[in-house]
Parts: sequence; structure tokens; C-alpha cells
Amino acid sequence: MSAFVLEHRLVRDLTPFVVVTEANKGAIDTAPFGLSVQRKNRIDPTRVEHEPFCALLQNLDGRTFGPEGMPMDRWVFFDCCFMPGAIFGFGRPVETVPASTREILGVPEGYRGLVPYSMYIAIPMATPGAWMGHNLASIAPMLTEENLKGLGTVTKSIALRAFGVQYFFGATQWDTHALHVHSKFGPLELHTAYTPAHSEAKTLTYAFRVTDDALLGAMGAPGIAFDRPEPELWIHPESTELMIAVQDRIEAGERFVIPGPPRADGGVPITSVQRAVE
Ligand SMILES: CC(C)(COP(=O)(O)OP(=O)(O)OC[C@H]1O[C@@H](n2cnc3c(N)ncnc32)[C@H](O)[C@@H]1OP(=O)(O)O)[C@@H](O)C(=O)NCCC(=O)NCCS
Repeated sequence: MSAFVLEHRLVRDLTPFVVVTEANKGAIDTAPFGLSVQRKNRIDPTRVEHEPFCALLQNLDGRTFGPEGMPMDRWVFFDCCFMPGAIFGFGRPVETVPASTREILGVPEGYRGLVPYSMYIAIPMATPGAWMGHNLASIAPMLTEENLKGLGTVTKSIALRAFGVQYFFGATQWDTHALHVHSKFGPLELHTAYTPAHSEAKTLTYAFRVTDDALLGAMGAPGIAFDRPEPELWIHPESTELMIAVQDRIEAGERFVIPGPPRADGGVPITSVQRAVE
């Protein structure tokens, strides 16, 4: 299965990196699926020499999450990502980055080293083996001179392997296109459907058990098929009342999954687990 990953078009084309402190590096696999991250691309964010790379990560976050209204301040990067968790992503050496891409990513004149194109940030949770996905960013949709379709999915998949995640949690908004990426990992358990404790109440919390099949199947490895139950309800990003109703049912003990991607009108499928196993 490592061969599938190592032969992947994007993996062959791009350069992987990890960002992890000296204190945490023993817990991170720097050769996930056999994809070895070169020593010079293992970034310790506590070292001053790596500040320019960290600044480019912030630019990547700003370009991707800025339009979503949730860009991260540097202290959030440091306190909530660099120190407790890790980042895995892909980039290119600056000398191979097209000028238009350098402009989009705000690469300063004279910068030397890797330019990050994508990143996945996750943070370990209090339960051993469980991690919370904090940020998935890919500049691919904004590029005009490079076709890197699939970058978001490949980044998330290999990151979860690098971090050794066993049980994954994520929070996202009902209207996000990123659900097209997340649902590639198989049916997602729905833990919240309406989340007023988040700055965006119309946030959903989802989870899945991280297996090789989930990670490789998401990347399109041959021979892996997910058992996706039929949709029972469709939650449209505007249907706050339905989100609250489903949240009430979750709090009353009912279990739901998101069996697949949103449909063209933005509706997200959900199915009660009882229905799924009938
Ligand atoms: C979400 C994001 C990471 C996707 O990156 P990417 O490199 O385009 O990811 P992929 O190519 O692996 O997959 C994108 C999927 O979303 C779909 N998609 C993207 N934009 C879409 C749109 N406007 N409408 C419908 N589908 C869309 C693509 O078609 C693709 O699905 P497919 O492979 O079934 O065709 C990137 O757009 C991003 O950084 N967005 C801003 C930040 C964000 O929202 N992050 C996620 C928060 S949970």
C-alpha cells in the first residue's frame, strides 16, 4: 500500500514537510507510508531560523481561511498548533515556484527554502490516540499555473498517518466545500449538528476511526470501497431548525452518520445509525 502513496502524482511532484517541536518529535512518524521527510524540511517552530517558514504557513492560512472569516493569529498558531500538536504538508522549493504562486502566497524576495502549499494541523486530545483536526488548508484551488487537484485530501490522509491518529475528530461548517474532502474517508459519525459553543453555531462535529482503508481509500487507492448507508435526511446550510432538531436527537442518545459528500444544492446527507444497520 505504501507503493500506491509513493507513486501518487502529487506525492511525486511535491515535497513533504513536518512542523513539530523538539519535545514532540519522537511522537511523529517522519516517514508516513514510507514517504520520508527530509531533515531540512522537519521544521522546529521554536527555532528562530524557522520563523520565515512559519510566516509562510500563516500566509497560507490567511489566503485560505481569511475568506472564511477564521484566519489564525500567530499566538493561536503557537499555543494551539506548534506547541501541543503538529503540522504536515506539501510544498515546493522556492526556486521551482511559479511567480504567480509566489505572489498568491506572499513569498518575500530573497526567501530561501520550501514554500508550503498545503498543511494539515492536528492536536492530540485528552483520550490517548484521539486527535482533533484543527486546520486543513490547500492553495491548490487558487492556482492558475499548476494543477494540484486532490492536494487537500492527500495532505489530510498522510498527515493522519504521520501523527499516528487512531480516532479522529473534526469540526466544520455545514456550508463548507471541505466536506467533499472529509467524506472521502468514509461515513463520518456526527457528534454535534448545532454547536453554539463554537463561534459559528452552524458547525458540525464529526469523527471516524482511522484505518489504513480510510486513509488509502480517501486517496483513491484501488480495491477499497466504503459501506455508505442511504441518506435519510438532507441538512441544508440554511436549515438551522433541522440542525437543532438533529442536535436534540443526538443529545437524547440517537446516533447519526454523514454517509457521503454534499449534493450540488449544498445539502449534506445524514442517516441515523439505527437506520444504517437495518
Ligand atoms: C477545502 C480545501 C482544503 C480543499 O483543498 P483541495 O486541494 O481543493 O482539495 P481536494 O482537491 O483534495 O478536494 C476538493 C474536493 O472538494 C470539491 N470542491 C471544492 N470546491 C468545491 C465547490 N465550490 N463546489 C463543489 N465541490 C467543491 C472538489 O470537487 C473535490 O471533490 P472531488 O474530488 O470529489 O471532485 C481548500 O479549498 C481550502 O484550503 N479551503 C479553505 C479552508 C477550508 O475551508 N478548510 C477546511 C476547513 S474544515
